[in-house]
Amino acid sequence: MLVALLPGDGIGPEVIDQTRRVLDALGPLGLTYEEAFVGGAAYKAKGHPLPSETLELAKRADAILFGAVGDPDCDSLERSLRPEQAILGLRKELALFSNLRPAKMFPQLADASALRPEVAGAIDLMIVRELNGDVYFGEKGMRKTADGLREGYDIMSYNEAEVSRIAHSAFRTAQARRGKLCSVDKANVLETSQLWRDVVIEVSKDYPDVALSHMYVDNAAMQLVRNPGQFDVIVTGNLFGDILSDQASMCVGSIGLLASASLDANGKGLYEPIHGSAPDIAGQGKANPLATILSAAMMLRYSLGLPDAADRIEAAVAKALANGARSGDIGGSMSTREMGDAVLAVL
Ligand code: IPM
Ligand code: MG
Repeated sequence: MLVALLPGDGIGPEVIDQTRRVLDALGPLGLTYEEAFVGGAAYKAKGHPLPSETLELAKRADAILFGAVGDPDCDSLERSLRPEQAILGLRKELALFSNLRPAKMFPQLADASALRPEVAGAIDLMIVRELNGDVYFGEKGMRKTADGLREGYDIMSYNEAEVSRIAHSAFRTAQARRGKLCSVDKANVLETSQLWRDVVIEVSKDYPDVALSHMYVDNAAMQLVRNPGQFDVIVTGNLFGDILSDQASMCVGSIGLLASASLDANGKGLYEPIHGSAPDIAGQGKANPLATILSAAMMLRYSLGLPDAADRIEAAVAKALANGARSGDIGGSMSTREMGDAVLAVL
């Protein structure tokens, strides 16, 4: 089975390096790896953030392990050449519409959460974020108003097929967990959200065993810090899911811990930490590689049919944390490599 390695920018290469060491330590899994440029690194090397050979590799591979994209050097480029377009392009070109972002408290890290330990300790949720539509992919641009003012615009829309397929994905995810699904929208203001809510309710008829609820996104943001233990699975659109998943990560302790899977309809996936390229600490060996290591575990489980190997990685990460492994983001001073070593020591 072929794994495409796309390290990208900033701390991406550092966290991917440690993840490769962990994968290799599992012994022969029948995986081969091919690496390609993506993001700002690809722009600098090839003139485009998602070069055709990178896209071709991603299509050919059985799974994609992705680091991060984003490079301040590229911020003044026209939007189509900015590093972020690489990840957006991969999600769209490969129809990776279902983004699973689990957030679970590690008991060993209760003190790293921004929440009180008794509140944080109850977190065990999964955000299912739609990834191919919404305001991210609508028509956008800059124009002049009738009075000559500059105006930026981004069209938000979802059609019923897009909502239906992510709803099915979320209901199935809830069935495999505790059977609770909360759909997050802004139906009190947005037509896009009204259609979202209507379609989620229609799809719910196929899943009588799942308890469906609805919540406005502003309330969801509040409930995530007030009582996150109430959530099992949250399903939401691209923009709200982007925001709520960063928030959930901080409730758990650090954005350096949260993994993600972006899946197509057949289970092929791209796996990446939810954090970005963190240019402020890039190249200093300070990044926490655990989110990427845990993303590799999701890859083994969801795309490569190797659940035992996934379990071994997840258990090793939990044990390394129990043994006191701490990078800067979770209150310690261990380097990226030392965090990798701590996981390898358990394996
Ligand atoms: C994420 C990131 C991306 C997003 C950026 C890098 C385009 O924030 O994966 O959450 O907004 O989806
Ligand atoms: Mg984000």
